[in-house]
Amino acid sequence: MAEAKKLFIKTYGCQMNVYDSERMAEALGAQGYVTTDTAENADMILLNTCHIREKAAEKVYSELGRFKPLKAANPDLKIGVAGCVAQAEGEEIMRRQPLVDLVVGPQTYHRLPAMEQAVRAGARAVDTDFPEEDKFDHLPKGPRAGRGPTAFLTVQEGCDKFCAFCVVPYTRGAEVSRPVARIMAEARDLVDRGVREITLLGQNVNAYHGEGEGGAWTLARLIRALAKVDGLERIRFTTSHPNDMDDDLIAAHGDEPKLMPYLHLPVQSGSDRILKAMNRKHTAESYLRLIERLRAARPDLLLSGDFIVGFPGETETDFDDTMALVRAVHYGQAYSFKYSARPGTPAAERAGVPDDVASDRLHRLQALLTEQQRATQDSMVGREVSVLFEKPGRLPGQMVGKSDYLHAVHVKDAGAQIGQIARVRVTESAANSLAAVLI
Ligand code: SAH
Ligand code: SF4
Ligand code: F3S
Repeated sequence: MAEAKKLFIKTYGCQMNVYDSERMAEALGAQGYVTTDTAENADMILLNTCHIREKAAEKVYSELGRFKPLKAANPDLKIGVAGCVAQAEGEEIMRRQPLVDLVVGPQTYHRLPAMEQAVRAGARAVDTDFPEEDKFDHLPKGPRAGRGPTAFLTVQEGCDKFCAFCVVPYTRGAEVSRPVARIMAEARDLVDRGVREITLLGQNVNAYHGEGEGGAWTLARLIRALAKVDGLERIRFTTSHPNDMDDDLIAAHGDEPKLMPYLHLPVQSGSDRILKAMNRKHTAESYLRLIERLRAARPDLLLSGDFIVGFPGETETDFDDTMALVRAVHYGQAYSFKYSARPGTPAAERAGVPDDVASDRLHRLQALLTEQQRATQDSMVGREVSVLFEKPGRLPGQMVGKSDYLHAVHVKDAGAQIGQIARVRVTESAANSLAAVLI
């Protein structure tokens, strides 16, 4: 039997890319590839890229340059670029980096096996279509890999919101939801393979409207159906848009015990003027009211968010409004970014804020968010939480997992297997994790 070819995939960007990388590995698995975790001995290297900020895209080119000696040592090595940089730059990547053999966008990776054969035959291949067919219906299935107790499951892709700063509507295309039956089947398959926690993914996951029994289902309805799957113990979803948070989804946070008390709900800015310029279609006030309703449904809900500082036209007063919103919400976790102009988006045409001003605001915002994150984690000490064990810790008998609130938790003498869920009492809050004991 021929020795298996080795595939090295490096993933950048959001969780959806993590999910897509697994699907690509499966599709190439059907061609006889097995994954490896070093580029050095690979027969194929795939970079699954992110285009969200300029730095993310530039990283791809510098990484590609580093593969030059590998290709010199092994002329059979094939190098591919997938993901959102592939979608945005397509042929340009081929021109800029002759080492690249194939470029495949996020909507066409079901065609990877055919492209792989073409590049093995000496061609260079680019496919960044938005095809009619659904890639998920046409993905070859490689050998079923064993896996850990948590998994991502893409239920929705693309975005029709067109925030003025964002490339996602261009790289991922229009909003599309997968049918309910497909998602249920994939969830059951994951549970059969030992998965206990599923995170439902979508660029705007709460805009989900997939075909199910009786018509289009909402995300809340899908979550309620998934909660009935035996063996699936925890459900999460990300990322949500404030305007798509409907009544039933808010209610589900209060009455669906398998839905975990953690919600990532990006707001971007606390200034109505800037929110309008960003085309976010919500106000700071409407966001705060939404948070109130969510907390009424689930008082211990841990909130996470995304923020952009230095958006074109942002004044010190606008930034103060963002700081005020952060103080009003009190986030348990958050991501904040300096605005990065993306070619092709409406905001890229507008005059930016000086870089030193934006950097200074980012520092101040991050200091506040870090303080809130710290306070939230510290407030867990003394409390009972549940932990899903994901791996052994460094000490004998110790296990590491995630709490309901997504904090990393170390448990001594856990006496537990990977995939088990235990009730623990938190005893200590360290730099990036909690320590706890079994109850
Ligand atoms: N679909 C999600 C996430 C999109 S990308 C949502 O709607 O929230 C993740 C985050 O990257 C965004 O929430 C935003 O905070 C940030 N981001 C997107 N484009 C950016 C840009 N041009 N500059 C800086 N940050 C950006
Ligand atoms: Fe981008 Fe806005 Fe769509 Fe989120 S909602 S993916 S930030 S355009
Ligand atoms: Fe990046 Fe594309 Fe995700 S641009 S954040 S990888 S959708």
